[in-house]
Amino acid sequence: MTGPVISARPTTQVHVVGTFERADPCTMVIFGALGDLSRRKLLPAIYQLMKEQLVNEHFAVLGVSRDEEQTDDTFRAAMREALGASDEVHGVDDELWQALCKRLFFVSADLTKPADYARIGERLTEIERSCPANARNRLFYLAVPPSVFEPIVRDLSQSGLAPRTRTADERPWVRIVIEKPFGRNLETALRLNDLLLGLFAEHQAYRIDHYLGKETVQNVLVLRFANSIFEPIWNRQSIHHVQITAAETVGVESRGKYYEEAGVVRDMFQNHLLQLLTLTAMEPPPQMSANAVRDEKVKVLRSIRWLTPQTIAKDAVRAQYTAGVMKGKPVPGFTEEENVSPTSTTPTFAGVRLFVDNWRWNGVPFYLRSGKRLKSRASEIAVRFRRPPHLMFGHATREEMRPNTLVMRVQPNEGVSLNFEVKVPGAACALTSHIEIAPVDMEFNYAQAFGETAAPAYETLLLDVMIGEATLFTRSDEVEAAWRVVDPLIRHWEDHPPKRMPTYAAGSCGPREADELIEQDGVEWREIL
Ligand code: BG6
Repeated sequence: MTGPVISARPTTQVHVVGTFERADPCTMVIFGALGDLSRRKLLPAIYQLMKEQLVNEHFAVLGVSRDEEQTDDTFRAAMREALGASDEVHGVDDELWQALCKRLFFVSADLTKPADYARIGERLTEIERSCPANARNRLFYLAVPPSVFEPIVRDLSQSGLAPRTRTADERPWVRIVIEKPFGRNLETALRLNDLLLGLFAEHQAYRIDHYLGKETVQNVLVLRFANSIFEPIWNRQSIHHVQITAAETVGVESRGKYYEEAGVVRDMFQNHLLQLLTLTAMEPPPQMSANAVRDEKVKVLRSIRWLTPQTIAKDAVRAQYTAGVMKGKPVPGFTEEENVSPTSTTPTFAGVRLFVDNWRWNGVPFYLRSGKRLKSRASEIAVRFRRPPHLMFGHATREEMRPNTLVMRVQPNEGVSLNFEVKVPGAACALTSHIEIAPVDMEFNYAQAFGETAAPAYETLLLDVMIGEATLFTRSDEVEAAWRVVDPLIRHWEDHPPKRMPTYAAGSCGPREADELIEQDGVEWREIL
């Protein structure tokens, strides 16, 4: 039952922590410039950054793709079309577009051929000519399939396009942004890190997890560490369990081939869900700096109890969606999707119980779940507190009472809510045992409070790369520690395909097996509304 809502608004002026920094001059070289990520996320983010006047006057984009037919003009036309189709850009301003258009360039290159890197270099030199020598910074963005990460990293170095820099302050800088998935498992992630760090310094590597660019995800740190009321109760004494959910309504869409090989654990758990867990469970870092924050996150990942074949049997469930109805329309099941095998055993849903074995969290379950084609889109972290140890209001109230839950809603409807019990007004009976109690929600909603929607994640993250701020990017030891958590699960599931794959109908709240997993502990999943 949802009770009355008490809403929260900023009470005084907004405190700006740090200053908005205009980005350094740079040329952003996008490998895979005509792909989905570049059109749907990168260009809209660049457009927004220009709109907010956050890019430098010496900012340019060099798109790289194999397509030999493309020229600067056709590339610009494709990017204009992408902006028009983007739901992150609300109406393209012509003047702004003209300003951006002049900064877009294209070069055709086959990234598996080392000789083609010379062509990229020639265009880069041309673009950089108008820029002072020590400001010829280069940002290489690998928006390409993971299978070509390794050759690109190698050739970037060998061609001389991307020299190693000794310190983060050296100018001009060279930074390399690598999209997820970073490796397919621990072994391949270690190999990729070895290669990357053999040729470049850690301060040049920006491993992206776009969840960290979400306003609400960053707010987890602010909520926890800019308020003093949460810290004393943020531990096993007061917290009963934590539920982390990333529910999606979309299916695998045109990504059947990728998804079939990845599955939900590689796609969502190794990165986004574990990031949410680390932010929730970490100790307060001494300062808001990249290494201080990432040190604490790594400690959490290393404290997660290892999954073994025995624990997997009771602590993890997998499932696949079958055909169903979404928004009144029939949709196919996973095994009927394009580029997916009809006999696929790739999970599209997983629910996992994890434990963080340290003093703060010992014995507190962290339930994680994520799936495609669920009833609603909802990503959130819900921290459920313990029930009061003794209830003086009579037994009847005990079962009806909702334990306090602090919910940090990542998306949609971004915000925070806390529910608590209140006395229902009225003097029905003087006896305390007949006091009527009802839950109410205290509610903070970003859009209502600040009147604007949060900046899209890629905008935040791109700006950070141009500024050299690495806090929201995954360090090498962090990505490896995250693989160590999920690797045993992925391996066990891949080596032991289920005799009967648990299923859930598209448009439902997930498989029954996920409910059973959590019900063993006497709790329920929060409803996916
Ligand atoms: C991506 C996954 O990393 O995150 C996708 O590969 C998923 O499968 C997406 O749909 C979810 O991100 P968001 O920002 O749309 O919630």
